[in-house]
This record gives sequence, structure tokens and C-alpha cells, in this order.
Amino acid sequence: MDDFRFVDSTTSTNKELAALLNGSVNEGFIVQTNYQTQGKGQAGNYWESEAGKNLLFSMVLYPEFLPPIKQFLISKATSVAIVKVLNGLKNGFEIKWPNDIYFQNKKLAGILIETAIMGSQMKHAIIGIGLNVNQEVFQKAPNPISLKQILGKELDVTHLLKSIKSSILNEYKTLKSGDIHQINSEYSKYLFRSKGLWKFKDANGVFEASVSHVKENGLLVLKTTQGTTSEYWMKEVEFLF
Ligand code: BTN
Repeated sequence: MDDFRFVDSTTSTNKELAALLNGSVNEGFIVQTNYQTQGKGQAGNYWESEAGKNLLFSMVLYPEFLPPIKQFLISKATSVAIVKVLNGLKNGFEIKWPNDIYFQNKKLAGILIETAIMGSQMKHAIIGIGLNVNQEVFQKAPNPISLKQILGKELDVTHLLKSIKSSILNEYKTLKSGDIHQINSEYSKYLFRSKGLWKFKDANGVFEASVSHVKENGLLVLKTTQGTTSEYWMKEVEFLF
């Protein structure tokens, strides 16, 4: 694979890739590893991944065409790209807002996007993806699952990386072409807990609702049976299991 660096072990592929960006690095360049000593999750969490078992990589994009206020579209495009590949293996993979990949009630993959903005322009986005492929025992990760546990067989991590890379570049092309409607509608289609009524918890307590949609700025919109809607930023609402 061109534009690709594999390191057997690193602190974090997001960090490793960020350190390369002072030189000239092509859009789509990937850093992949077998093991991270400081794998970063969202909100300062640690990303757990057993050595040599899973897909751990970061890809750089230069979305200079996208106003920073719309940067959540990169997140939408990435999660749609991953779910499309996974649903080609088996149906039932969904996107849990903001951008976790779930199978039934368990988390298969996480995405951490770190962006650089200069003035009113996006300079780069480092898209970090951790996807549980062949791991079967997890230490601390909350409700994890792997593809091996779902499909009952081992998968080739390199093959999966190739499919996900081309799927991300494909969705990114759609985004670049300005077809935001397509990204939004596909993201909505795969949204976890958008059908039926589910328990959520916010500052006022537990309530039942379903996921209506996610705004372009990343706000989650929930709707109750009475037809009222409420909007949340990350950490303001919890999905109850
Ligand atoms: C989450 O908390 O759900 C996001 C997890 C993102 C983990 C991936 S693993 C590859 C890349 N490098 C990191 O340090 N984090 C991301």
C-alpha cells in the first residue's frame, strides 16, 4: 500500500502521524501499528487493544474546503465508511452517536478525530480508528466486542484496512463534492437507537426517547413519544443499557 507506514509498536498512531505532518505527507497517508502504549480514546480515555490482534491506524486528510463549523461531517463520513464495509460482512452494524461502531449493544470500534484549524480554515484532520478484530478477552473496555466474536472466525487485519481505507476515501470524495445530503442521510440510516423507544439519562434524570437525527454541528437530537425534542452535546446525555 502506498502512503503507508507500519510500526510494530508506538505510543499512539494519532501521535505518530501528527509528528510526521511537518514534512510533506500526502492526503490519505496511514500509520498502522500492532500495539499502542498510550492509545487515545475519546474524552481522554485509554483505548485498550491486545498486541497484534486488532486494527489500529490513523489517516490524514486535508479538508481545507470544509468550514470548521461543519467538521463533524468528517466524523459522519468516516463512521458511514466503516459501517458500509462491516455490513458487507454481516448485517447489523450501527453508528452510536457521535461515532462509535456498535453491533447490537456492544462496541466494536472507536474513532478519534483530531483536527488543526488555522483562522477560519481546517488544516488537517487525523482520523484515528481502533477496531476490535481478533481479540477475545478484554480487560477494562466497557461492553466490547470483536469481529471474531461476531463472525466466529479470524479476519485478516491488512485486508480489512485496505477496504476501510478505500471506503473512507470514497465517502470523503462525496463530502468534497458537496453532496452533504448523501452523507447525512446515510449516517441517519445507520443510527443506533433511532427505531423504538430507549432509556436515556440527562441532567434531569432517566427518560424514554429515540434518536431523531444528528445536526451538522454534531448535536444529538432525541425525540420523545409526546413529540418533544431535546438536543445534546457529548457528555450531556447517556444511553442506558
Ligand atoms: C473512542 O474512545 O471510542 C475512540 C478510540 C480511538 C482509538 C484509535 S486506535 C488508533 C488511533 N490512535 C489512538 O491513539 N487512538 C485512535
